[in-house]
Amino acid sequence: SPAPIRALVTGAAGQIGYSIVIRIADGTVFGKDQPVELVLLDIPQCVASLEGVVLELQDCALPTLVGVEAVTNEKDAFQNIDYAFLVGAMPRREGMERKDLLAANVKIFKSQGKALAEFSKPTTKVIVVGNPANTNAFICAKYAAGKIPASNFSAMTRLDHNRALAQVALKTGTTIGDVKNVIIWGNHSGTQFPDVKHATINKGSNTVDAYTAINDTNWIQSGFISTVQKRGAVIIEKRKLSSAMSAAKAACDHIHDWHFGTKPGEWVSMAIPSDGSYGIPKGLIFSFPVTIDGATKEWKIVKDLPLDDFAKEKIQITTKELEEERDDALKACDEANI
Ligand code: NAI
Repeated sequence: SPAPIRALVTGAAGQIGYSIVIRIADGTVFGKDQPVELVLLDIPQCVASLEGVVLELQDCALPTLVGVEAVTNEKDAFQNIDYAFLVGAMPRREGMERKDLLAANVKIFKSQGKALAEFSKPTTKVIVVGNPANTNAFICAKYAAGKIPASNFSAMTRLDHNRALAQVALKTGTTIGDVKNVIIWGNHSGTQFPDVKHATINKGSNTVDAYTAINDTNWIQSGFISTVQKRGAVIIEKRKLSSAMSAAKAACDHIHDWHFGTKPGEWVSMAIPSDGSYGIPKGLIFSFPVTIDGATKEWKIVKDLPLDDFAKEKIQITTKELEEERDDALKACDEANI
């Protein structure tokens, strides 16, 4: 069998951690014939629950899981890993300003970027789930530069993408498998732009464009967008906890497709460093439609999709927010002398 893939999950004692480790360990992400070594990182205060997760993983009796390490320091965590699922982040506490939250997370992702550069491989691929995900990924990439290329860093908008697929399937009475090529543009935040303009729906042996099939511009430009944008808040209201099962599943979809490639004729949404496409400033970690070649594991932004004025305006709003976050984060970096 092939050499094991070594995968790190940070925040492994948390909610998403609990749902994500089983899918990485049981072959859902890397395949049923691919051995996996899991490295689980959390903060020292969480070491007991982390150990509990290790015991449960043993009890799952998974043939694909050939090793588990539970650690509480970055040196051990980032050693020789192939993939990093950066889930752990400072949660927003009541009364905390956006800027304080950003500064606290910048500190974590600056430190983890340095650890990636020092202990991981030039080929290590990173998905940032912890919020603010795009900006955390930007900072992490910045401090790993020179060792790991920026193109190996991504932030998760796959949950938003999956939410958009589900809404289109519900609206049109089709199944998820028949809906393709929705797009999430921009930030994983309330300014994201979920776009169905280029999506398609399979009806029997025909492929129709989703925009025409839905035939409801008001829903496409209003109800659909706000449902996807606000889905996370609705789930918190109902569950009293944030999305964890769906977030873990989405992170696994993201890395699965990065590892194996996207299907012919399909793209997925992934926040990656802009190359200037669609006028997005270079280097900004921005969610684009991407295709991935499973052989090289390189993503490519889907270019030259026509954008109408509505789309351009939405994209501009989320771009502006990301530029502001980036600038605040860079300022916080100078103050975070770690
Ligand atoms: P949680 O609070 O249940 O778990 C987070 C875990 O991270 C905790 O165990 C905590 O001790 C750990 N942690 C904190 N700082 C750490 C550090 N420096 N190193 C290692 N571990 C650290 O939170 P949950 O629900 O698992 O969510 C995790 C993150 O994912 C949050 O930032 C949340 O906002 C974000 N999220 C992002 C989504 C996306 O679509 N991009 C969707 C859902 C959640």
